[in-house]
Amino acid sequence: MKLLKVMTIIGTRPEAIKMIPVVKELEKYPERIQSIVVATGQHRQMLDQILADFEVHPDYDLDIMQPNQTLVDVTIQVLSGVTLVLENERPDIVLVHGDTTTACASALAAFYQKVKVGHVEAGLRTWDKYSPFPEEINRQLIDELTDIYFAPTKESKENLLKENHPEEKIYVTGNTAIDTLEYTIEASYTNDVLKIMGTNHRMILLTMHRRENIGKPMEEIFQIIPILVNEYKDIEIVFPVHKNPKVRTLAKKYLSNIERVHLIEPLDVKDFQNMAARSHLILTDSGGIQEEAPSLGKPVLVLRDTTERPEGVSAGTLKLVGTNGLTVYAEVKKLLTNQEAYSEMAQAINPYGDGNASHRIVQALLKEFGT
Ligand code: UD1
Ligand code: UDP
Repeated sequence: MKLLKVMTIIGTRPEAIKMIPVVKELEKYPERIQSIVVATGQHRQMLDQILADFEVHPDYDLDIMQPNQTLVDVTIQVLSGVTLVLENERPDIVLVHGDTTTACASALAAFYQKVKVGHVEAGLRTWDKYSPFPEEINRQLIDELTDIYFAPTKESKENLLKENHPEEKIYVTGNTAIDTLEYTIEASYTNDVLKIMGTNHRMILLTMHRRENIGKPMEEIFQIIPILVNEYKDIEIVFPVHKNPKVRTLAKKYLSNIERVHLIEPLDVKDFQNMAARSHLILTDSGGIQEEAPSLGKPVLVLRDTTERPEGVSAGTLKLVGTNGLTVYAEVKKLLTNQEAYSEMAQAINPYGDGNASHRIVQALLKEFGT
């Protein structure tokens, strides 16, 4: 029997975290599916961390990352590199994830080669062209190029229907982020940072990397951190700083050598998720963390004006607070001092699925191709 040839393309940390469960699931059917993994290397160290953790060895690695790369650099290199791989392999379908430039340029390369596109995490929308930038337009463009849609929630399916994408090609699967989370959390977990924290101290986990936040928004947030640690002697800030040099320069400028502020390297995913599970609250502009935190029952103050993850906001775990320093300071203070407000947000719920998203995705592929 002819094998179904599925090419999974990943480039950045979140794509790897959320696509590796799909790759592992594809590999369960060697008699029906040939799985090919392509890493574009849009991220280098942060991608390699995840690949090593999960023992995934890509069949192709385009190794495109440059320091301070522009969107144009990434687009051109992914488009031309993925085109060569497609010409060589001629897969039945390419799987891309989410909204990165790797995903968008790969979907375009597949379209030019008349190869089908499957979009994992399809249908997320803010409807705001520049927020997040360029991800909102990346996901809209990808969905125009997509043949099979894997929507994480009913809401994301509704978004796709509003844009007239064909209902019979939309599968609601849950989010594959939750598939990963099932494997990483350990009750007895500890690490060097946790060991040096004061007993009974409350940990605030901070991450910030979005392009539209680099500059003044990031400075506003970083400036309130020393004020908070000075005011609340029982809090510790842990900030695994993204490898982007622009983010690192600002983090170093505002947050170096401050008592109870821990600037650390990006964590392995298992470490990060266990740290999140032990945190008191999370401040972030990340997309993926907004999906994971509701399952962990951790309040998240989202450092953005828009979100494509309204499910977590409706559930009460996420609150959009923007990037005005005074506003965010007041919101953190409220969660540190008002037990009722804290408890209302710290409800463990899971709007993003049951940990079986990858299984549903692979079953849908087998059905679509009659394999
Ligand atoms: C990218 C995605 C964003 C996603 C984020 C996840 C786009 C346009 N953006 O943004 O959607 O939320 O990844 O983290 O696709 N760098 C390293 N080593 C690494 C990774 C990055 O040195 O392992 C540095 C490089 O100098 C690179 C810069 O960070 O040029 C920016 O990386 P890039 O992938 O262009 O953008 P991100 O902000 O990481
Ligand atoms: N993450 C990680 N190490 C870190 C910070 C985050 O492994 O130091 C994980 C986190 O658990 C989530 C994903 O990275 O699964 C989110 O990636 P990121 O914030 O880089 O991108 P986004 O989701 O915003 O696109």
